[in-house]
Amino acid sequence: MREHPAAASTPAPARCPFGGDTERDGAAPYVSYARMDELHELARPRTDSPRELTFILISHVKEILFRAIHVELDQARTAIRQDRISVACGHLERATRSQQALLASWEVLSAMAPDEFLEFREILGEASGTQSFMYRVLEFAMGNKDPDTVRAWKADMERYPMLRAELAAPSIYDEAIRYLARQGAKLPADLLERDVTRRHEPHPLVEQAWLEVYRDPAGRPLDHRLAEALSDVSFRFSVWRSTHLLVVERMLGSKSGTGGTTGLAWLRTINEHRFFPELWSTRTLL
Ligand code: HEM
Repeated sequence: MREHPAAASTPAPARCPFGGDTERDGAAPYVSYARMDELHELARPRTDSPRELTFILISHVKEILFRAIHVELDQARTAIRQDRISVACGHLERATRSQQALLASWEVLSAMAPDEFLEFREILGEASGTQSFMYRVLEFAMGNKDPDTVRAWKADMERYPMLRAELAAPSIYDEAIRYLARQGAKLPADLLERDVTRRHEPHPLVEQAWLEVYRDPAGRPLDHRLAEALSDVSFRFSVWRSTHLLVVERMLGSKSGTGGTTGLAWLRTINEHRFFPELWSTRTLL
């Protein structure tokens, strides 16, 4: 039988990454490639409560998404350093997709009744989200480097090289500020060469630099896109925090946290923090 003419020019279908020849121990390639069996092994509830299993699974999902966001932010930071702003914005926009998935995952936990949570809360002991090193990696990458937090998590700093590397590196916002200076913004040297292991503090000249971008969106379309892409990441981070706060209120009321904080009251103060603060305050000046 003659081959249909279209068949010769039709490219072979792209191979699914899960279709590779990565079989181990007789496991199907899908399982072997991304170690799905090991992934499922990780969820080991300590009580009979099915809610505990859900809690662990969703906590894993959130951790993985923290990392997926960091992957994009890290690439965005490199692109900003290289003045490739359009590429950076692509990464930032992808980061916000993962942030959206992270936000959606609260839907599952917020559906848990307080009595269902209490079925296993005791098992958590002193385990708390404050101990999530990946969350801290993300905060550091975005510039919230609280030296007290670092001191409090000294053990983690020794254990996790990624956390040490993030503390020492300029944050994505440091890179954005340096980029603004390369675009002609008048920013002092001590700001551009600041100690990047410390938290970024709002500066009126950075606010002024963003203001100039927002006053000239047609003349500086790329810088305007960067400002909005960064604002989106910061906005979604704050929405994550406030949703967490609401879930905590719904689940625990004003009970104290397993991590030793006052719970709701402490989380309320955390909620006031804003990443990339001058991008927020510049709105008032426009
Ligand atoms: C029923 C669900 C949850 C409750 C009741 C809850 C409760 C709390 C409380 C009371 C705190 C304050 C610190 C403490 O004393 O422990 C806290 C902090 C935190 N939680 Fe949760 N949490 C829940 C789910 C999650 C999940 C699934 C994650 C993500 C994996 C998470 C991540 C965090 C983080 C990162 C902090 C520290 C925030 C910061 O330092 O800015 N929480 N949580």
